[in-house]
Amino acid sequence: MTEVLLRIEDLVTRFYTELGVVKAVDGNSLHLGEGESLGVVGESGSGKTVTALSVMRLIENPGRIEGGRILFRGEDLLQKSERQMQRIRGKDITMVFQDSLSSLNPTLTIGEQITRVLRFHLRLSRRERWRRAVELLRQVGIPEPEQRVKHYPHQFSGGMRQRALIAMAISCSPQLLILDEPTTALDVTIEAQIFELVEELKRAFRMGTFLITHDLSVVATFCDRVVIMYAGKIVEEAPVTALYDRPLHPYTRGLLGSIPPLEGGKARLDSIPGEVPDLISLPPGCNFSPRCRLADERCWREEPPLEHPGPGRRVACWKAGETGG
Ligand SMILES: Nc1ncnc2c1ncn2[C@@H]1O[C@H](COP(=O)(O)OP(=O)(O)O)[C@@H](O)[C@H]1O
Ligand code: SF4
Ligand SMILES: [Mg+2]
Repeated sequence: MTEVLLRIEDLVTRFYTELGVVKAVDGNSLHLGEGESLGVVGESGSGKTVTALSVMRLIENPGRIEGGRILFRGEDLLQKSERQMQRIRGKDITMVFQDSLSSLNPTLTIGEQITRVLRFHLRLSRRERWRRAVELLRQVGIPEPEQRVKHYPHQFSGGMRQRALIAMAISCSPQLLILDEPTTALDVTIEAQIFELVEELKRAFRMGTFLITHDLSVVATFCDRVVIMYAGKIVEEAPVTALYDRPLHPYTRGLLGSIPPLEGGKARLDSIPGEVPDLISLPPGCNFSPRCRLADERCWREEPPLEHPGPGRRVACWKAGETGG
């Protein structure tokens, strides 16, 4: 039995903007085991990043986490002080951000940035920190790490910078690594190398990974389970193979339909007509109803509950599993 590493219960995160209240994460629950990879998939604006930032307790004004619990190894992160969170962030739980290439400091060398993280979290001598920084760069596949550690971010290619960020994220052997669309800016070959690397690390440390992506082909090769988000809510969850064999939600089927048939290309979720609704004024009934081929009166009126149609599966749809011809 794997231990539960992260358990999110009924999380509600909202942004109070001038235009109204954005229901970015609307009562979601999910869990992740040790050494497990959970894929979180959905179009842009579905609440994936806000979910991850809530776990990191990095939601800023005008945002607020308004409900639920985020249990990490059984302890509620929402009850921790900011000081306690600073100890957890970057050490036990780390995140490679969506716009991560800009999250490196241009004025510090890569080695200075890695050793800062090490200095904050671990008791190592200066010499040990630098030795470890070189070792980490080697681990993430950066050639000539003894030289590279002294270079500035602009001297690195995009793929190298992403590797350096992963080196930083794993520098203190985290138990949970959150990757928010980590390879969107990279080409497919480098993307594959990065995922191989994360896979190795996952095996080596039994690290849990929370992978946010647009790309269902990445999920197929890398993740154990998948959560599909739509308009701030989880609409489907399944083990990867079950999801691909038999997607139950019309939205998931739409996403799978948008995977290109040939290998090599990046799958983009752009083939479902229409767009994610405005999270300030959601439609009544099912959030997906304006775009759903199967929608009927009931869908427009009543919101479908998240049900458990089988082992490890959840789906929120009145017509789950129907294809509608
Ligand atoms: N700082 C913010 N202020 C207002 N709204 C925000 C803020 N951050 C995110 N949102 C809104 O929350 C919703 C979910 O965003 P996000 O989690 O970034 O989506 P995803 O990562 O799935 O593309 C979006 O409607 C987005 O506009
Ligand atoms: S509940 Fe209705 S509108 Fe929503 S996804 Fe299912 S069939 Fe479509
Ligand atoms: Mg995002």
